[in-house]
Amino acid sequence: MLEVSNLNAFYSNLQILWDVSLSVGDAEIVTLLGTNGAGKTTLVQSLFGFIPRIDGKVVFNGRDVTGMHPYDVVKEGLSLVPEKRELFPKMTVAENLELGGYSRSGDARDLEEIFELFPVLQERKTQLAGTLSGGEQQMLAIARALMAQPSMLILDEPSLGLSPLLVGNVLDTVARLNKDGLSILLVEQNVEHALEISNRAYILENGRIIREGDAQVLLHDDEIRTAYLGF
Ligand SMILES: Nc1ncnc2c1ncn2[C@@H]1O[C@H](COP(=O)(O)OP(=O)(O)O)[C@@H](O)[C@H]1O
Ligand SMILES: [Mg+2]
Repeated sequence: MLEVSNLNAFYSNLQILWDVSLSVGDAEIVTLLGTNGAGKTTLVQSLFGFIPRIDGKVVFNGRDVTGMHPYDVVKEGLSLVPEKRELFPKMTVAENLELGGYSRSGDARDLEEIFELFPVLQERKTQLAGTLSGGEQQMLAIARALMAQPSMLILDEPSLGLSPLLVGNVLDTVARLNKDGLSILLVEQNVEHALEISNRAYILENGRIIREGDAQVLLHDDEIRTAYLGF
């Protein structure tokens, strides 16, 4: 479904990603692991045309989307939950959701459908997004991305800054969306939990993919456990 080949990405003359190749199949959850500064966000942003200088190839659903404008990538059915959530804090929950459906105006997913998935957002639909709790804001960020009716969702550290209980909620939500047929690329630092819900994983270090494989195999790999799980 998503095929990234030999991707290089640069901030002016500084190369951040080196020859990165990865794929996500239909209805798969694939996790991208890597320590802070490895280049995970740069990789995700490269897929949405946010990094001005890239080379390599990004194919989504058989279409070459390399360097396409973010708005057009979303129209192709690839949706992003960005690292910093990037909600509009002074707008209501409902208004934030409507903006998520903007790129597909006309057939934007009905708000009611989203509220069935996230009942807490219905209760808070007239509340300003900035007044929601951290967990609720993350749910809103995910719900907003779903408003574009994607066939694949990319989440950049959705559990960042959340308490362990809420981390579980968010990752359970991700697993549930996948069971409903959505393909997922998940960037996570909660390595154990992320691998538990994933089919496959890639490990990015210093802008290069250094390992890839079956999530369960990586979860029980001594080297991975020492480097990422601390036991
Ligand atoms: N706008 C930018 N300009 C220059 N360097 C950047 C910029 N954004 C990130 N970087 C650098 O790129 C590297 C990868 O960052 P990032 O993709 O955010 O990593 P991660 O998401 O894995 O923590 C880091 O060394 C970071 O300092
Ligand atoms: Mg990041």
